[in-house]
Amino acid sequence: MDIESVRQDFPTVRKRLGIYMDSACQSLRPDCVIRAMDDYYENYPACGGRSVHSMATKVSIAVDETRETLASFFGTDDPDCYVFTKNCTEGLNTAAYGLGLKKGDVVVTTDAEHNSNHVPWLYLRDNMGVERRMSRSKPDGSFDIESFHRCMDSKVKVVSVQHCNNVTGCTLPIRAITEIAHDKGAIVMVDGAQSAPHMPVDLKKADVDIYCMSIHKMLGPTGMGVMYGKREVLENLRPMTLGGGTVGLATYDSVNLAPIPDRFEAGLHNYAGIIGTKAALEYLSKIGMDEIERWDTELMRRLMSGLEDIKNLHPVGPTDPDRRGSVFSFNIDGLGAHDIAMMLDSMAGIMIRSGMHCAHPFYVSRGIDGSARASVYLYNSLEEMDIFTDTVRNIAETFGD
Ligand code: ALA
Repeated sequence: MDIESVRQDFPTVRKRLGIYMDSACQSLRPDCVIRAMDDYYENYPACGGRSVHSMATKVSIAVDETRETLASFFGTDDPDCYVFTKNCTEGLNTAAYGLGLKKGDVVVTTDAEHNSNHVPWLYLRDNMGVERRMSRSKPDGSFDIESFHRCMDSKVKVVSVQHCNNVTGCTLPIRAITEIAHDKGAIVMVDGAQSAPHMPVDLKKADVDIYCMSIHKMLGPTGMGVMYGKREVLENLRPMTLGGGTVGLATYDSVNLAPIPDRFEAGLHNYAGIIGTKAALEYLSKIGMDEIERWDTELMRRLMSGLEDIKNLHPVGPTDPDRRGSVFSFNIDGLGAHDIAMMLDSMAGIMIRSGMHCAHPFYVSRGIDGSARASVYLYNSLEEMDIFTDTVRNIAETFGD
């Protein structure tokens, strides 16, 4: 990967609008994604899947092409298995509520899930009597397969886990989890928000039943997500929202649901977002997901080696950069996470995220108020890592305890 040439594809980098290290929240977008969306608004701003005029037909074809691009990007054959959502959260909720779980059914997650893969299960526990079990993480936040094994029996109907953690960066062994879960007759749902943007993901090989992602974390438009499901899983999933586009025929007292994926896509959709999604996936494919993963690791190594001798700085999660994916969370004695984030911004134009990162139970269970979090992506440079570490050192020495 020619990092300097990649950087030139991103307007905010080109314009030197600061050092963006908040990609785990939302990524920057390259010109090609912005152009694809502008092209939609300027030249064919119509609906898809309904009207038959020329502009609408162009949109319908573009929507189909995005699904085909998704299928090939994730190593699967059937484009209809990709449902457009507004984010990963919506996909996970659609799946959780649509599975038709009953009192006594067991759902297994880890104890380090994002709220999107935690709160819906609490709701189903409290309102439907679904039993929730949690596989306990090791002290550094990494997955403990022994603990997971102990959660599993034939009452487990669903295993729902993150692929990569948005605080610690730990990656879970999805294929091994899937084998264990399927052996017990459970289906596997995966929160792919932090993995899909950063590593090659082959959904056929992983054999997951449902996999959700946020396209705005993978160079695509804001407010775009995707829920993948195996055909037989989607065909048995109850849609959360019904209306125009989701039905074959409705009479005054009967309705036939449309085939998948249409039954999950009620109302008019974010067509510019869907079109921008294809441009984002093509851009990622052109660079290569292996290469993106390699660059994330190189950036993490540089970043963490620049911080390791700062005595009052404490990483949250593993201290080995090769196990951090693309996120580095940390605290500095005597400083709040938001203070660190605001100082980084005002002193060096470095944008990070601070707080609990929507992973409240993870922090609460460890008695930590939150953390600062720097997250990197393909457009970050080694020089930016050095500016980051120099500024953090300055903050830790000047303002920390
Ligand atoms: N869940 C996203 C993050 O970790 C928003 O920043």
